[in-house]
Amino acid sequence: MNNVFYKGTAYINGKFIETEKTIPVVSVIDGTTIGTVSSLSKEDVDLAYEGAYLAFNLWRNVAPKVRVKKIKESAENFIKEKELLATIMAYEIGKSYKDALTEVERTYKNIYETIEVYEREFIEPTIIGEDVHHVNGKTGYFYNVPIGVVLAIAPFNYPLNLGLAKIIPSLLVGNTVVFKPATQGSLVCSQLAKYFDQASFISGVFNLITGKGSEIGDYIIENKRIAGATFTGSTDIGKKIAAKLPMKPIILELGGKDAAIVTNNADTKLAAKEIIKGAFSYSGQRCTAIKRVLVTREIADELLDHMIKECLNLKVGSPFDNADVTPLIDKKSLDFNLSLINDAVEHGANVVYGGTVEGHNLLRHTLIDNVSIKSKLAWEEPFGPILPIIRVSTVNEAIAIANASNYGLQGSVFTKDIEEARIIARYLDTGTVNINRSSSRGPDIFPFVGVKDSGFGVQGIRDSLKAMTRVKGIVENN
Ligand code: NAP
Ligand code: G3P
Repeated sequence: MNNVFYKGTAYINGKFIETEKTIPVVSVIDGTTIGTVSSLSKEDVDLAYEGAYLAFNLWRNVAPKVRVKKIKESAENFIKEKELLATIMAYEIGKSYKDALTEVERTYKNIYETIEVYEREFIEPTIIGEDVHHVNGKTGYFYNVPIGVVLAIAPFNYPLNLGLAKIIPSLLVGNTVVFKPATQGSLVCSQLAKYFDQASFISGVFNLITGKGSEIGDYIIENKRIAGATFTGSTDIGKKIAAKLPMKPIILELGGKDAAIVTNNADTKLAAKEIIKGAFSYSGQRCTAIKRVLVTREIADELLDHMIKECLNLKVGSPFDNADVTPLIDKKSLDFNLSLINDAVEHGANVVYGGTVEGHNLLRHTLIDNVSIKSKLAWEEPFGPILPIIRVSTVNEAIAIANASNYGLQGSVFTKDIEEARIIARYLDTGTVNINRSSSRGPDIFPFVGVKDSGFGVQGIRDSLKAMTRVKGIVENN
């Protein structure tokens, strides 16, 4: 039992909304209730959209430097409470306290970097095409303008970072926002309303709606006021949202099955270190986690020895002990991970490290060797600490298996031969390929992109600013 209690309230049209019915949020560490959040009705959701819609005409006309000032003020309010935010995150999503603090600091830095790019590249109206003046006596001015009300939806695993990486660019360019955090993640995200409120934003510019996706999800994505959406989460929900918002600008950052290809020319010690860190940090609950290893048979044993040694260095336990592997987000996730292990073993694989449940939804990081491509684990995203090793005969076979996935987020190639690395990188059908490092989203200024079932559109500091604007032309006829 712990004795913390956090109360998360929704925030609509400049007002904190408490509801009679609330949703309990549990500690990922032991399942005890650590707080509640408002459970909004459909009418409340409508109010949020109407408020955001009305506020748009005011906010878009606020001078950019005033928008920047307000956002900086809210960023300062945010960073002052970094310890509180990290503590809630450690309970609510089970991220180690140290990593949760890093998430807050990374987000704060990201806000300032976004402002910097905005001021440098977006703040002045953009005139596209300098010679346009001379076309048939016409002078054309083409500007990046805001799109309107943006729906932003974040997943549980980076609640603040992936929330604010959507909210801030949208607000900076003049849009208003309706933000829906993941329910397990909404206690920490509800703190954000406080920071915007303290900075006295125009009512309706920022709205936070809480409620279970399974209950109000369909409703929140159907509102006619939505001008565009930016979503991070599972592929199933992402596809659902895209179907409901045809012809609207949309960014979808979805699931992944990032492969690490290790060739005969690899530094296996380096590869093992990177792969284990990439696969198991935050218990594998990262879209960019390494989720399968494709290694040539000649060096598979050598790689495996190093990987097992790296596994021994990881700490399993509580987020407050800064463990690397902590309890999974819920029992459903634990059961799914265990079912993938069982299925792989039934298809002839062997667990060479881990596989044991060591506490409340706490699965020791698990290495599974000789995984058959007939098993589910070869293709499905566990979003947990289990890593399949698929032994291949040739690099071409590795590329073929990597590309046969429905996903296409990132991939890694390990080889000391840079030419070999470049060739493999060119052939991989993913948003990004990392050479001799595990996959990862950062640095945040890089475009972040998934293809196939991993996403649509590009996120990243510059790309998110651009995605939430549209081009508008004004043509003067002389
Ligand atoms: P999720 O179950 O898809 O939930 C994501 C968000 O969607 C949550 O806020 C959720 O709210 C909401 N939601 C659920 N049903 C909805 C509906 N019908 N309509 C609208 N919204 C709905 O994903 P998750 O479990 O939080 O996150 C894990 C997944 O996200 C993994 O697949 C991972 O790979 C992916 N992910 C991708 C990236 C990337 O950048 N590519 C980054 C992080 C995570 P509730 O919590 O209330 O259900
Ligand atoms: O799953 C969230 C995704 O965006 C990963 O970010 O920085 O851990 O690679 P990162």
